[in-house]
Amino acid sequence: MTITTCIFDAYGTLFDVAAAARQAAREPEFPALKDRWADVANQWRLKQLQYTWLRALTDAHTDFWEVTQNGLDWALEATGLDGDPALRGRLLDLYWQLQAYPEVFEMLSALKAGGMQTAILSNGSPDMLAGAVKSAGIGAVLDDTLSVQSIGVFKPHHRVYDMVGARFGCARDEVLFVSSNGWDAAAATGYGFETVWANRSGEPTDRLPWVPVHMVSDLTNIPELAGLK
Ligand code: LAC
Repeated sequence: MTITTCIFDAYGTLFDVAAAARQAAREPEFPALKDRWADVANQWRLKQLQYTWLRALTDAHTDFWEVTQNGLDWALEATGLDGDPALRGRLLDLYWQLQAYPEVFEMLSALKAGGMQTAILSNGSPDMLAGAVKSAGIGAVLDDTLSVQSIGVFKPHHRVYDMVGARFGCARDEVLFVSSNGWDAAAATGYGFETVWANRSGEPTDRLPWVPVHMVSDLTNIPELAGLK
């Protein structure tokens, strides 16, 4: 089936989630972060995701912003950095202005020039996503930003992936779904999307009943995988 619609996960896929801790570590106010920023970023991300899965399983949905703060609080305590409210505040502020990866704008522009529908599909709350899209300057090359907030459950619940067909009226096999989360790309394969796993750090494949269809190390070749060029 011809791809008509390219859908992107947000955090870690279009936006560099490690950028908040990396940036704060460069600031003179937070010397304790200098050697520990990568550990903080990693633990923050892992806990944030675990809390989304646990909340989806237990019907305890909440705003992704709350989950993001809960994950950071756990990570700061685990790394011994929980005694500095200014550091916590700075890391949370930076999460609203994450950088996009360098190839993102050109890649999305090529998809739009080729007639594709493009959108974000994310656990992020609408206001968090609006902040990130604005600071990354990619609003003009996206047709929409779909947030799970309107359905009240996190990925990889199938109702999240249902949002794509409901918005764009496309069949599942017309969708190229791109995520840096191996589990998200795998679940979307199970759902019936053609999937791309953006595996920037060379992680092993998740042992799940499904696997991503394609694997890339950055987003440069997405237009080609969508059938353009
Ligand atoms: C998202 C997270 C899972 O944007 O990266 O949905």
